[in-house]
Amino acid sequence: MTKITRVSTTTVPPARYVRGRLKVPGDKAISHRYAIFSALAGGPSRLSNYAPGADCHSTLACLRALGVSVIEDGTTVTVMGRGLGRLGAPSAPLDAGNSGTTMRMMSGVLAAQPFTTTLIGDESLSRRPMRRVIEPLGTMGCRIESTDGRPPLTIHGTTLTPITYSSGTPSAQVKSAILFAGLHTHGTTTVVEPAQTRDHTEQAIRAFGGAVRIEDGGRRVSIEGPQSLAGQQLTVPGDFSSAAFWMVAAAARPGSRVELEDVGLNPSRTALLDVLRRVGARVTVQTTSESAGEPRGTVIVEGDRIGRVDITPEEVPGLIDELPAIAALAGHGAEVSVRGAGELRVKETDRIAALVAGLRALGIAADERPDGFVAGEAGRSTVGAGPADARGDHRMAMAFAIAALAGQSPSQIVGADSVIISYPGFFDTLGRLVA
Ligand code: S3P
Repeated sequence: MTKITRVSTTTVPPARYVRGRLKVPGDKAISHRYAIFSALAGGPSRLSNYAPGADCHSTLACLRALGVSVIEDGTTVTVMGRGLGRLGAPSAPLDAGNSGTTMRMMSGVLAAQPFTTTLIGDESLSRRPMRRVIEPLGTMGCRIESTDGRPPLTIHGTTLTPITYSSGTPSAQVKSAILFAGLHTHGTTTVVEPAQTRDHTEQAIRAFGGAVRIEDGGRRVSIEGPQSLAGQQLTVPGDFSSAAFWMVAAAARPGSRVELEDVGLNPSRTALLDVLRRVGARVTVQTTSESAGEPRGTVIVEGDRIGRVDITPEEVPGLIDELPAIAALAGHGAEVSVRGAGELRVKETDRIAALVAGLRALGIAADERPDGFVAGEAGRSTVGAGPADARGDHRMAMAFAIAALAGQSPSQIVGADSVIISYPGFFDTLGRLVA
């Protein structure tokens, strides 16, 4: 189980600007999917630039427990695919650690296996809602036991029946769980969402030689099962959501310039770029290649004076994981308003409450809304000191670090070691980029 200690405190000094050229680690969302599809495919897959964070290792650990051989050599991962329907019954509960993506997507896979599996998680994951996968997988015929809709989940795998599922809340994890179940199921399984969410699962199915039908601007996705997939050699692009913290830092400090190379540019993930332009930054994007349906390239962000930023509910699905980074702009003299983001309350922690408490601890005005927050005052920057408590949440730790760069004095961040979940080298890189 991933242990995140909340006692470690990191001090972040103020910085005038942020400058440099860098590559961020491999994308977390894509790495999870490539690992799972590799396990279900026939033959070996070689995944380069696999995400180094703890979450994607939780997925590998779950696959190993299901009898899949996984060999790691730095960030290159070789997965010996067993073929669809060939996973082995585990001898103990599978531990998804801190990773909601692991638990929800693996639920879809496990619902279709001829054995029973229990999925457990750490303290944070054990509080997170799972009805959103229990309900559609239940409609497909799988019985899942939970503790009042939360982990642990005991999944009684079975032969499933296809469904058309209309979900109320846009969620790529839920969509993916249903598509993984549908991959194993005779007939056509369809997911309809109120807004398009990241489409990495759809792109990955095709990359592994499978087929998926995408309609209505990505809001309706169908898969006809069962399909057999073939092992692949794939390179994961840099994680846009990790790069987002450097983009925001550069945008917020006049005189800054960061150049992020080989970063994933899937349009379902890049809404932040428009937000940064709106707030006053110069943003240049050069798409250099596209492979496995995932565009990638270089993003250059140069900082200038920043103003107000309003995030509307329609924008939220395209930048759900960037909202903590956007909140950090409030430390640099921007007024930030976010609406329609109630989902933030059920992430690794209640991110609305944690952001508001942490920003206030750094001397920034901030208030909660039921579905978002308002933070910052025009021209007023972080005071500094803290401590701001990341509450064990990697994106809180990184957001507070970026807000702290504007401080009049050094700031303390409690629980900064939680960055191991998605970006283990974050604080080393921060030290290298700031001046
Ligand atoms: C993810 C989808 C999003 C996102 C999470 C990763 C994924 O969650 O916040 O960090 O990899 O599919 P939801 O599906 O709950 O919106």
